[in-house]
Amino acid sequence: MEWWTYLSFAAVIYVATIVSLRMLYPEKHLDWSIIDETQRTFPESFQWGVATASHQIEGGNSNNWTEFETRSNIEESGDACDHWNRWQEDFQLLEELGVATYRFSLEWSRIEPEKGHWNAEALQQYSDMIDDLCRRGIRPMITLHHFSHPQWFEQREGFLDKDNIGLWVHYCEKVFERYCDRVTDWCTVNEPEVFSIMGYFMKMFPPGKRSLRSTLTVMRNVVQAHGIVYHRLKQHNPVCRIGLAKNVTLFDPLKRWNLLHWTTSAALNFVWNGAIVRALKKGTMFGKKMPLVRGSLDFIGLNYYTHVLTSPFLPQTNEVNFPKRSHETMTDFGYPMYAEGLERAVKMLETLEVPIEITENGTADQHDTLRPIHLQRHVWMVSELLQQGHDIRSYYHWSLMDNFEWAEGYSLRFGLYHVDYQTQVRTLRQSGSIYRDIINEASQD
Ligand code: GAL
Repeated sequence: MEWWTYLSFAAVIYVATIVSLRMLYPEKHLDWSIIDETQRTFPESFQWGVATASHQIEGGNSNNWTEFETRSNIEESGDACDHWNRWQEDFQLLEELGVATYRFSLEWSRIEPEKGHWNAEALQQYSDMIDDLCRRGIRPMITLHHFSHPQWFEQREGFLDKDNIGLWVHYCEKVFERYCDRVTDWCTVNEPEVFSIMGYFMKMFPPGKRSLRSTLTVMRNVVQAHGIVYHRLKQHNPVCRIGLAKNVTLFDPLKRWNLLHWTTSAALNFVWNGAIVRALKKGTMFGKKMPLVRGSLDFIGLNYYTHVLTSPFLPQTNEVNFPKRSHETMTDFGYPMYAEGLERAVKMLETLEVPIEITENGTADQHDTLRPIHLQRHVWMVSELLQQGHDIRSYYHWSLMDNFEWAEGYSLRFGLYHVDYQTQVRTLRQSGSIYRDIINEASQD
């Protein structure tokens, strides 16, 4: 055969592959100009909430993050929203929004500041907070690990060393025993993929390392730790619902005719999403068997923010704008608003065959110009998905108020309430009142 025959043959295969990929994996985009986002319905049982995390709002912490903040080029969390002292005021804000549920995390470094030393005052304060939420008719959902842990745990290499898992399990049992009489819903870990990739590959979270091997080890150990905690806590109290919060970022090829872009997005999708979903379904991860992880869920938490358009030339830090489709709008975080992606994220997680709780969704938007429409579109998508029969039980907006946005410090504002960090005054944003109306209207359906 002549060389050009080979070439034509290769070209046909290439085109056929791309055409099939494009058909198999369409990237859905809606014409929002013809959609009325206010047309939505929700079942009476649907739960509306907001979410926060201890290190992002409490202030005055001393943990792996504060240590990292002092030695890296990021803003220090400092007083944050001073929530540790103003929690009652902040719970009043929850009531004003009319939420039925509130997701927050316990700060391990407060509760166990030294290994084996338990801080009775901190344990009592969290207990008072739970009581106060219940009194207000707000159901608490507790996250047991939301990126922060004590420095003594970090010094022992944290989740990088599987022998440390027991230390976290012990802490989880302690707080669970104390609060499970009043708290039914528990998230073991927040975003194992973000925690491991940002901390051990992107250098943007503590401990600020770059090692693929450590990244995969930490991801596996955290998922394994989740599995162990799930079974231990269920033994204490089988009535509680236990799950983890999975960040689903969709990786889509930047150029949909470029096979390299498809290959890169498939690889990233596997490391970020597929490996964890598979571990929860089959009990294996990166070649290791983890039988305790299989089926270790009463619900799956979905944190959904965006899709990332991928090519082999990936940014090594997030201080860049990610690419976007020409019609898409950029959020302050430098990634696009893509509400349509919620459908694929839900379909991905429902293969786990447990109810879905949308444990986070929101946007960084300093001037609150994008958040109103961002919120309306995502809420409309939830309503559509419910009507299609997907089992989604709740929606938690990230976040109640502006807070310490990890590596981005205070530069990004995610709150339904604006926070003035000088005076600690909280002010309801327009998007906050839209959310309040959405909740109110849904309860009258
Ligand atoms: C999530 C994280 C939250 C918050 C949010 C906004 O990945 O769980 O703590 O920072 O992103 O970027």
